Amino acid sequence: MRILLATSNPNKLREVREILAPTGFEVVGLDSLPEQPPEPAEDETTFEGNARLKAVAYARATNYRCLAEDSGLEVDALDGAPGVYSARYASAEGSREQRDRANNEKLLQELSGVPPEERGARFVCAMCLADPDGSIVAETQGRYEGLIADAPRGDNGFGYDPLLYLPDVGLTSAELSPEEKNARSHRGAAARAMARVLERLAPH
Ligand code: IMP
Repeated sequence: MRILLATSNPNKLREVREILAPTGFEVVGLDSLPEQPPEPAEDETTFEGNARLKAVAYARATNYRCLAEDSGLEVDALDGAPGVYSARYASAEGSREQRDRANNEKLLQELSGVPPEERGARFVCAMCLADPDGSIVAETQGRYEGLIADAPRGDNGFGYDPLLYLPDVGLTSAELSPEEKNARSHRGAAARAMARVLERLAPH
């Protein structure tokens, strides 16, 4: 009945858990394991590749059916950067909050002077589910489109959420409630597609 979500990011765990709850599978994060498995190097150049390598490595190391996700921000004016380097765009040092703040500041600097019509961007999420023998059970993706704002707004979410402006509602992603974000986010879409796969599988 248990699936390991290969993350220690509490925000990602909460977002995914909420969507997979109706499948009957219990989603646990890395922090709930008695011993931390070795962390694989995320050295692929695509979100799909990194999600796959994490799912397989953690499933083999823990003997759990394992769900991994890799996500990030693609900015059109930066030719798709920061992409798979989103988490460590400005620096790999400091707490999660410090890195998020530095990343947002760097992104705003890189885009200074870029007009609104050229500030298109999207969050992308790739998910992969793997079995303890290393076989891949399913792979799903999701995208979350917006524009990069001129300044951060909102206190919800994490990462670049305060900078992803959603023109249809006039709010940033960090100004949405968790439910509203899940309903339209990249991770929400990938997790809902994964939930449809899980509903066809017997709980493991
Ligand atoms: P990962 O944890 O290595 O997959 O890094 C993903 C990075 O992409 C995060 O640290 C954030 O900077 C960014 N990111 C991914 N998903 C989101 C989201 O839902 N909101 C804001 N930032 C996100």
